[in-house]
Amino acid sequence: MTPLATRTVTARAPAKVNLALVVGPLRPDGFHDLATVFHAVDLYEQVNLSEGPPGIRVVVHGEGAEIVPTGPGNLAVAAVAAVAARAGVDLRRRGVDVVIAKRVPVAAGLAGGSADAAAALLAADRLWRARLGRTQLAALAANLGSDVPFSLHGGTALGTGRGEVLTPLPSTGSLHWVLAFGSGQLATPRVFAELDRMRARLPDPGGQSRPGVPSPLLAALRSGDLTALAAALSNDLEPAAIALAPLLHRCLDRGRAAGAMAAVVSGSGPTCAFLARDEAHAAGVAVELTDQGVCRAAVTVTGPVAGAAMTG
Ligand code: C5P
Repeated sequence: MTPLATRTVTARAPAKVNLALVVGPLRPDGFHDLATVFHAVDLYEQVNLSEGPPGIRVVVHGEGAEIVPTGPGNLAVAAVAAVAARAGVDLRRRGVDVVIAKRVPVAAGLAGGSADAAAALLAADRLWRARLGRTQLAALAANLGSDVPFSLHGGTALGTGRGEVLTPLPSTGSLHWVLAFGSGQLATPRVFAELDRMRARLPDPGGQSRPGVPSPLLAALRSGDLTALAAALSNDLEPAAIALAPLLHRCLDRGRAAGAMAAVVSGSGPTCAFLARDEAHAAGVAVELTDQGVCRAAVTVTGPVAGAAMTG
């Protein structure tokens, strides 16, 4: 008798940058209310799932693979387990091999781990023919992490709550970016905690109690006016990220000096994102940043792109 072929499925999900990140005060649950504009770019994580012996095994290749956890702390593993629980799949009897191909740096402010989780949610849903649908998957995503719903959703979207409540935002045209990767990692909780410390030293601490995204950014996205968009990019976490990784300051400065239209730390960093006029301009800024030695690597990307999707 010929053995049945092992079923394998593959999904991918994009990295994100934050075009604005407005942080409110610390909530009793340890999160901050925020208002952010998420923007998905064409740098993808790929997750491949195959049926295997009972349990979940994970292998990670690529960018930063050596520092990615392979146990329950891995967001893709948590995502597969969440789909199994919801779909009634008994992992003591059926198992899955997870292979993650990483292109997004780890703990870099680009939601690489969230992209792994989003791709794994879709792939597990397909592997077990669970047909949970986007609404149920989005609910599982929100339990996994604040950015995971956006990694599923993609495009350009307003994120509120702790980032998990999404409203799609209309935008005109494609945006060209340079992403400059730092040489280390910044853990998100550390950067939020540093912001809290910095605010506590101010005469009026606490940030906006009901954070909102500045309307000039929303207008610039709608109209596609690049100059207005460049002027409207902002990130409340940037001073905290720079306090923890002072080299970021030089990287931002050098990108501006290289002619970038705008320079901003992505999320909690340490990636810096630079807005360019077009593809050729982005390529020029990337070369200059690399030559100046202010980052580990610089890549060009465009957005917005779609969220997590099956690719095989
Ligand atoms: O949701 P996620 O697991 O990505 O959050 C990681 C950590 O980042 C949280 O435990 C919290 O310390 C911080 N965070 C926050 N406010 C948010 C999102 C994340 O303080 N809105």
